[in-house]
Amino acid sequence: MTPSNKVIKRVEALRAQINEHNHRYYVDDDPVIPDVEYDALYRELLELEDKHPELVISSSPTQRVGATPIGQFETVTHALPMLSLANAFDAEEVGEFDRRVRERTEHDDELAYVAEPKLDGLAISIRYEKGVLVQAATRGDGQTGEDVTHNVRTIASVPLTLRGDPPDVLEVRGEVFMPRKGFAAMNDAALKAGEKTFKNPRNAAAGSLRQLDPAETAKRPLDAFFYALGEVSDEVQPESQTELLSLLRGFGLCVCPEVRTVTGVAGCLAFYEDIGRKRDGLPYDIDGVVYKVDSTLLQRRAGFISRAPRWALAHKFPAQEVTTTLLNVDFQVGRTGAVTPVARLDPVDVGGVTVSNATLHNMDELVRKDVRPGDTVIVRRAGDVIPEVGSVVQAGTSGRRGELPTLPTRCPECQSPIERIEGEAVARCTGGMAVCPAQKKFGVWHFGSRKAMDIDGLGEQVVEQLVANSLIEQVADLYTLTVPQLIELDRMCEKSATNLVKAIAKSKETTFARFLFGLGIREVGESTAQTLASHFASVDDLMAATAEDLQALPDVGPIVAKRIVDYFSLETNRNLVNELVDAGIHWPEHQPVSAGDQPFAGKTFVITGTLPSMTREEAKAMIIAKGGKVTGSVSKKTDYLLAGEKAGSKLEKAERLGIEIISESSIQNLV
Ligand code: IVH
Repeated sequence: MTPSNKVIKRVEALRAQINEHNHRYYVDDDPVIPDVEYDALYRELLELEDKHPELVISSSPTQRVGATPIGQFETVTHALPMLSLANAFDAEEVGEFDRRVRERTEHDDELAYVAEPKLDGLAISIRYEKGVLVQAATRGDGQTGEDVTHNVRTIASVPLTLRGDPPDVLEVRGEVFMPRKGFAAMNDAALKAGEKTFKNPRNAAAGSLRQLDPAETAKRPLDAFFYALGEVSDEVQPESQTELLSLLRGFGLCVCPEVRTVTGVAGCLAFYEDIGRKRDGLPYDIDGVVYKVDSTLLQRRAGFISRAPRWALAHKFPAQEVTTTLLNVDFQVGRTGAVTPVARLDPVDVGGVTVSNATLHNMDELVRKDVRPGDTVIVRRAGDVIPEVGSVVQAGTSGRRGELPTLPTRCPECQSPIERIEGEAVARCTGGMAVCPAQKKFGVWHFGSRKAMDIDGLGEQVVEQLVANSLIEQVADLYTLTVPQLIELDRMCEKSATNLVKAIAKSKETTFARFLFGLGIREVGESTAQTLASHFASVDDLMAATAEDLQALPDVGPIVAKRIVDYFSLETNRNLVNELVDAGIHWPEHQPVSAGDQPFAGKTFVITGTLPSMTREEAKAMIIAKGGKVTGSVSKKTDYLLAGEKAGSKLEKAERLGIEIISESSIQNLV
């Protein structure tokens, strides 16, 4: 039966009313009608949609839970990367942050900041097109995440359609979390039913968002607060973080009610103290405070470093500490052969997580702290950081105090000699990847990790078995693995083996930077790998580079350059690279940023004053493109001061230090 105009109008009216009441209830926390009246509206809409299925649209409030579970999570590439934040742990670091920002932005007065609680949940990016929710993705590695649209739609406080006059594209970023009350109730119920409980609200939120069946997620008490934008239509240009937050509120999105605008370091620290006092009484977990420069203009001037904005800072609450007994000290071998003392502890709850192992970092620390089996020690953990042993509070509790552990002379994994270079805190197994199973294992694991070749299903336990069963000697062997071989491993079924083989094959299509990072060259982290990838056209060119060539690149110093040269000077490593390429690993061809085009390589610039034809941002971009570095303050390390009109104290300082002062026209000539 074709619906009459009257029915269509009624359906639309019901949706609008229900959306409004949802907003009043979930976002404003201020319902205006009793539950029974709401239920009646909802039922009426359900019945009409049932009678006229052609009227059902995915943004209808009745359609939060999809009909069928999904098979797997798809990968989503973020239109704009999802950033991380620099951390601070004390007031001094906050002061330094403020000083740096003011210097960079050339702002002498106190800055206005927005202070927000750092929510302890999971970062999420939600895309609305023409006001309708079309996609929700997890942060992942910041570049790509997982598509969790089906689950995010079930979160009652997340609107399926935006209020007001939304632009064509609006990506909003925020945090999904589980309020404490809901978490406690859910765990109680699970306990009674004899089911698995979660350690803390954060894990519970993560687990809930990773359900394949949205009906399951819908049962979990999730909530979300929003605090940033991703890709947006041009007309969305908030002039401040304050304006951005009120824009979000206007679209019907929840913003954390504790957010405040504050002035200067003093204002930031007062907020931190205040929220710290309130912390236990808040309905959700927070693990610190985030300070953001309020003005968008100043944010732009401050810019970004690596993956984090220079204009924002996470000020963490102090680590949580408890005491427990140290049972024993073992030695663990990492990917680079580093031998680390690890404390085996009497299991203890530290801020909602059971800790039975903690790092002692290195031998010097162990000796300095004089920790021995039988001691009562302080165990600390801060957020995602690995738990560590702080200090001994009582030596040899109950009278039994063991010997001070000594560094083994041979590797516990491969019996190769352990070497400790004079002046270095770290001891290393000399066996190397080829001999030492621990190094092999961590090397392969690192290669397959998310930020490297991103091989789904290649977890630590799988790799451990692959190495132990001699199925792989080195990473290139991954590409020869077959389903029958994998099925033999513990906890592998045909499906997971097939998926792993597929994931390995899929990883062949990668980027040069991921590949280089995956090789696990010492000192070559993600960002150095990116630099190398953009400056070399091919891996052959990189292998042929000398230490001098490498040092000419931005942020590559003598140590990093030596590590890279050392790595490629070994035949085994060159063979490995060739085998990997022969196995079919490839990446898009690109034009390298040429060193010949880099007259400013290794030079540090400071820009001050008003330039005649360029903005400071443009001048900075030009200097970086030509291989130079731009910093905010003049020091002995500065090579050139690019000075325009009304150059003030920086010019004076540069003159005092005898630093070469150049004008815009002379820099153009140099280029
Ligand atoms: S801003 C500039 N604000 O912290 C955009 N992040 O350490 C960067 N987080 O991945 C994020 N509360 O998951 C921002 N009020 C808040 C936050 C917040 C929690 C998380 C977020 C992010 C991580 C970065």
